[in-house]
Amino acid sequence: MRKPFVAGNWKMHGSKASILTLVSDLNSKIAEIGDVDVAICPPAIYIDYVNRVLAGNRIAVGAQNMAEEANQGAFTGEQSVAMLKDMDCNYVILGHSERRALYGETDSQIATKVDVALKAGVTPILCVGETLEERESGVMESVIATQLDAVLDVVGIESFDKVVIAYEPVWAIGTGKTASPQQAQEVHAFIRGKLSGLNADVASKVVIQYGGSVKPDNAVELFGQPDIDGGLIGGASLNANDFIAICKAAG
Ligand code: 13P
Repeated sequence: MRKPFVAGNWKMHGSKASILTLVSDLNSKIAEIGDVDVAICPPAIYIDYVNRVLAGNRIAVGAQNMAEEANQGAFTGEQSVAMLKDMDCNYVILGHSERRALYGETDSQIATKVDVALKAGVTPILCVGETLEERESGVMESVIATQLDAVLDVVGIESFDKVVIAYEPVWAIGTGKTASPQQAQEVHAFIRGKLSGLNADVASKVVIQYGGSVKPDNAVELFGQPDIDGGLIGGASLNANDFIAICKAAG
């Protein structure tokens, strides 16, 4: 049985004041959520602050990116996995479509980062997904397979039970256009089936989140699909009531 996992990707949002309000609200409501793993991923500069406000409750903290280099060095503007661990950060989102599209991250860089995170014991949340053009031109599955293969080639299928995969169709991110539960399930089943061809045991354990305009009113149906194990939530994770409702839907 896979335990559902919901993570909030705050992207580049928040201030000390807004985070204090949001995390305090989450603290007061987290007991309402059943057996679901929950994480929040603030901008890196606020990771320590978020951990202080969480004060050790069951919500984990993740980063939104990290360097390919594991420790330290002359890499201006970067944060290493060792630094994330040092600040009690248990997850890191890697390969988000915004990193791929806006900052030119390649499959090969993302694969290296997944490898570095796994070796350090930080759980990577590996994002994959197609653009609308790719979906409409019928290359969706090959696009997702290529994104997965790049990582599989570096870390191997046996490591994938420690990888969380987030399927995020690019056309559904921040657009209000969510994939239908059937569309999402179809891709989740494709991903699990692909992994299953390499190692059925690992494939049955891999948590695959859906991301892209998840809201309280569509979460129950999405998370009810057999291969959808929770969500990676953008906009709705900035509102405590919405995020808690989504976490409940996963439970
Ligand atoms: P939205 O939930 O705002 O569509 O963002 C999804 C996302 O990109 C999470 O990583």
